[in-house]
Amino acid sequence: MSVVKINALTVPAEMREELERRFGNRAGMVESSDGFEWFELLRPVEGTDRYLVYTRWRSEEDFKRWQESQSFQAGHAQAAAEAASQGQGQGHGHGQGPSQGHGQGQGPGHGHGQGPAATGSELWSFEVVQSTGRRKS
Ligand code: HEM
Repeated sequence: MSVVKINALTVPAEMREELERRFGNRAGMVESSDGFEWFELLRPVEGTDRYLVYTRWRSEEDFKRWQESQSFQAGHAQAAAEAASQGQGQGHGHGQGPSQGHGQGQGPGHGHGQGPAATGSELWSFEVVQSTGRRKS
């Protein structure tokens, strides 16, 4: 059964463009991972002001493996530093609890030295119960 992992990011209005640019720069960060099925960066329009990073995986194990991988950790070095300094013990930005960005430095994955565009994040997990796509013609 596939699992859906959504990272809900709080992003100040003035950082939206920067966030989208950073995601754009990281195309390919996840596609080649074993068990990866789908990714979408969802920009909020109505009902919430949080961006959703939608990812779908073949299994929980595949997601965990990706989170523990070099590719995820390098891409989320800033989050990792902050999670560690908040004593969460996870070390790689699981999105549990807020990840506050204070602009104190630059992770390797970041475009420039202004710290994270997101000021908070929350990880949501789902199991796919039903799924359908566009009808094939
Ligand atoms: C559901 C799995 C994911 C989790 C748990 C996660 C975790 C996080 C966290 C905690 C942040 C906020 C801290 C920070 O800004 O550094 C963040 C931001 C970010 N993540 Fe992820 N992430 C996930 C998926 C992805 C994917 C699939 C990509 C790339 C395709 C990605 C690329 C980024 C980028 C570019 C940022 C923005 C950094 C910024 O705020 O400037 N993430 N992620």
